[in-house]
Amino acid sequence: AALGAFRRALLAFYDDVARPLPWRDTRDPYAIWVSEVMAQQTRVETVVPYYLRWLERYPTVEALADAPLDDVLKSWEGLGYYSRARNLHRAAGVVAEDHGGALPDSFEGLRALPGVGEYTAGAIASIAFERAVPAVDGNVRRVYARLADEPRPGTAEVRDWAERVVDPARPGDFNQALMELGATVCTPRNPACGGCPVRAHCRALAAGTVEERPAPKKR
Ligand code: ADE
Repeated sequence: AALGAFRRALLAFYDDVARPLPWRDTRDPYAIWVSEVMAQQTRVETVVPYYLRWLERYPTVEALADAPLDDVLKSWEGLGYYSRARNLHRAAGVVAEDHGGALPDSFEGLRALPGVGEYTAGAIASIAFERAVPAVDGNVRRVYARLADEPRPGTAEVRDWAERVVDPARPGDFNQALMELGATVCTPRNPACGGCPVRAHCRALAAGTVEERPAPKKR
């Protein structure tokens, strides 16, 4: 019962107030892949113009695979962490050569591509292919630390929780809703607990420890 209420509240929040990001209008797995790689280490607001320009220049996996690496790296300028662009280009080559240009539609198939880690595979599998798998980024880790009132939750603990809560009816929206909650409500500083859709489920809020979750690393 609590799980159903949690899912409903989070998805209602997503339906009502999620930011209208351009990759939320597409079902194209390639476009979703690009957006998730770009958004991993770069603020979403910064990513938007890069994402739009990228899809004009490289509208398909084949277009990206065929482009010279130098052009691809030039298109990435300003986003930083260039290994992401190199891996994207390399993986586009693999998808074009070995998969006929279509992204694998499972978590495991995606995870096997160069540069596609657990987060990216989970994000693409859930958002593009409606697979009920978790996609745990830094925002989701913080949200969990507060919901569970855990000072320093381990990777496996967060993943197990995310696997259990992801809504099998709307996994892509659910995962994006968790990320969105962390980015806009359950922020590192001054979280907006008064406007939190899942405040009734938050152990840290009940205990008065929200600002101390997650706890800074011991040094
Ligand atoms: N950060 C990375 N991917 C995101 C997404 N799909 N929605 C919100 N924030 C994100």
